[in-house]
Amino acid sequence: MNHDFSAIVSECKSCTKCPLHETRNNVVFGVGNPDAEILFVGEAPGENEDLQGEPFVGRGGKLLDLYLNGIGLDRKENIYIANILKCRPPHNRDPKPEEAEQCLPYLREQVRIMQPKILVCVGRIAAQIIISKDFKVTKEHGIFYERKGMLLMGTFHPAALLRDPSKKGDCFEDFLKLQDKIRELGIKI
Ligand code: URA
Repeated sequence: MNHDFSAIVSECKSCTKCPLHETRNNVVFGVGNPDAEILFVGEAPGENEDLQGEPFVGRGGKLLDLYLNGIGLDRKENIYIANILKCRPPHNRDPKPEEAEQCLPYLREQVRIMQPKILVCVGRIAAQIIISKDFKVTKEHGIFYERKGMLLMGTFHPAALLRDPSKKGDCFEDFLKLQDKIRELGIKI
């Protein structure tokens, strides 16, 4: 496999489709291995991500790395991590529907090129946009839904775990379910 994001990366980097381009420092396209079979999708870059041009690099990102590493995954090696929005919304507010609509074609192209077997939605916003609009993380986290030959799963956002550490155990169970699924599908990591 040799999945190539370069054309869509350069298109995305010069994107001016929504007003977020005016305030961004960097477009945060994603990080990882485009040949991986597992795609993680968060909501939008925050301040650190906007400054560094990489998803999940703040405190929440460190926590996400801990869970990933706990099941043998590494953000640079055997997964890819992207967001619904590629540019930071001011003051980290929720993405506006029109921003998501303008930006989603980039994620769709990432999915089309990667053809991941598993897509993990990190947090409520990503799960509501990708899995179902009334997705409830507390009830539906860790459940795999099949869509177009791909398995979709939603889990807690690391920022939510930092606010409420009592959810950390439930989140790690989701990662253990993911590990089981990776083995069941024979995904090489
Ligand atoms: N939160 C997200 O959803 N994505 C990031 O990249 C950083 C924080």
